[in-house]
Amino acid sequence: MGVEVFSHEVDSPDNARLLILDYGSQYTQLIARRVREAGVYSEIHPHDLSAEAIARFGASGIILSGGPESVAAEKAPGVSDAVIDAGVPVLGICYGMQALAAKLGGEVRGSDHREFGYAEVSLTGGDKLLGDLVGSDDQLKVWMSHGDRVELLPEGFESIAASRNAPLAGMADVKRRIYGLQFHPEVTHTEKGQTIIERFAHKICGCPSDWTPSNIIAEHIERVRGGVGTERVLLGLSGGVDSSVVAALLHAAIGDQLICVFVDNGLLRLNEGDQVMETFNEHLGVNVIRVDAEQRFLEALEGEGDPEKKRKIIGRLFIEVFEEQAKALDGVRWLAQGTIYPDVIESAGAATGKAHLIKSHHNVGGLPEQMNLKLIEPLRDLFKDEVRKIGVELGLPPQLVGRHPFPGPGLGVRILGSVKKEYADVLRRADDIFISELREQGLYDKVSQAFAVFLPVKSVGVMGDGRRYDYVVALRAVETVDFMTARWAHLPYDFLDHVSRRIINEIQGISRVTYDISGKPPATIEWE
Ligand code: XMP
Repeated sequence: MGVEVFSHEVDSPDNARLLILDYGSQYTQLIARRVREAGVYSEIHPHDLSAEAIARFGASGIILSGGPESVAAEKAPGVSDAVIDAGVPVLGICYGMQALAAKLGGEVRGSDHREFGYAEVSLTGGDKLLGDLVGSDDQLKVWMSHGDRVELLPEGFESIAASRNAPLAGMADVKRRIYGLQFHPEVTHTEKGQTIIERFAHKICGCPSDWTPSNIIAEHIERVRGGVGTERVLLGLSGGVDSSVVAALLHAAIGDQLICVFVDNGLLRLNEGDQVMETFNEHLGVNVIRVDAEQRFLEALEGEGDPEKKRKIIGRLFIEVFEEQAKALDGVRWLAQGTIYPDVIESAGAATGKAHLIKSHHNVGGLPEQMNLKLIEPLRDLFKDEVRKIGVELGLPPQLVGRHPFPGPGLGVRILGSVKKEYADVLRRADDIFISELREQGLYDKVSQAFAVFLPVKSVGVMGDGRRYDYVVALRAVETVDFMTARWAHLPYDFLDHVSRRIINEIQGISRVTYDISGKPPATIEWE
């Protein structure tokens, strides 16, 4: 594929940045987020990062994550000399602490007492990391998840925390600024966890708190300008959060050199096309080409009931339309995408950090080979909450920035079986009633995603004196953090009752409303 990736080093204004070495813990991403919440830029890299790469990174401090291994196991991942020789503060968390202890001459042993969940630790030192922290009852309630534990401290270390199962639950070599914690400060269950992360970043590593939305924006604008120069950039704008923030950021950086293409495929939510144009074109002055492709999409989908085939048709048409637009424009050298940091980490597998996969379910659906465009992904080092914050700072309406995810194939996957305009029109209205009621009742932000699904089955109903024989709509609302697993949202019965009445009374063609009470797994979030 004729794509060349442009990426620059990221820095907070005074170059303060923490390096997080990943030993495979499920909490590694959380560590990076907590450090950034403390206003300090951080990046996750594999635990075996080379000495040169560590030196090149120029960390103000290094954090070693937890991990599933046992230090005692053969081939257990260790701590490299480069980490110690970097001469910057080091914090080992859980496995990270054990690996540090083993590396520096301490003793780690498997324990019969696997400790998982809450534990109380008493603080036993006066160090900068934990000293004077006051929790409940003179002790800190912390989150533990380990089998092995440190039995003997390496030379130069003192104990700074003790729990019943792990008498050495924290260690510090204050002189060399090397610290270890058996528990997980990055997990919200740990009392004062964020304070501990902040102390490490600010007091021990000396990083100021300057990774703020306005600095992030300034830094990214400078980078984009440096990379793109006077060339033009094309962006497929979907109206979703990520591509919207990319549009706002690129517009702030390069103004009219940015051209967005918004494809109205007839599978959008009610009034969505108009809203996108109003927000970006009219309010923000962004160059947006709206392509009305409803007819084309619906014709191509006609009679196709297979979900995978429907997805393929939609993806192919997106590319076709996009390609036609790109060809008609002069001087476009770049293609922008809304890839964000979790996409990068997840597609790489946290432990490699190397892959540069193009977001597979991105709306554009893949890149045409002949376009020969260079790829720009200005959000690829940002977490979703950071993307949202800079979106607001760039002037996007908070309502847009806080939106639930919407799948690339749109209502195409929410109309079961073959797609028809008549079904899409009905579904759009039902969905709009559900979503606007959620907003009005203050429930929208309490659920992670909500929508209506069109079921092409007819069911009998009665209205007034008349009998109805109409379609069924299902409502779906879920709570989830990562969308990999989800529980159905326990919305109040009165609320569901009200929404159901409105849908049946106001929309011709629907005789019945159901609420989906399936979790993921075993169900998925979308019905398809
Ligand atoms: P499932 O249905 O797999 O969905 O539980 C998980 C999340 O992914 C979204 N989703 C998509 N997003 N293009 C997208 O951009 C797609 O093709 C797609 N399919 C599912 C879904 O809405 C949910 O948030």
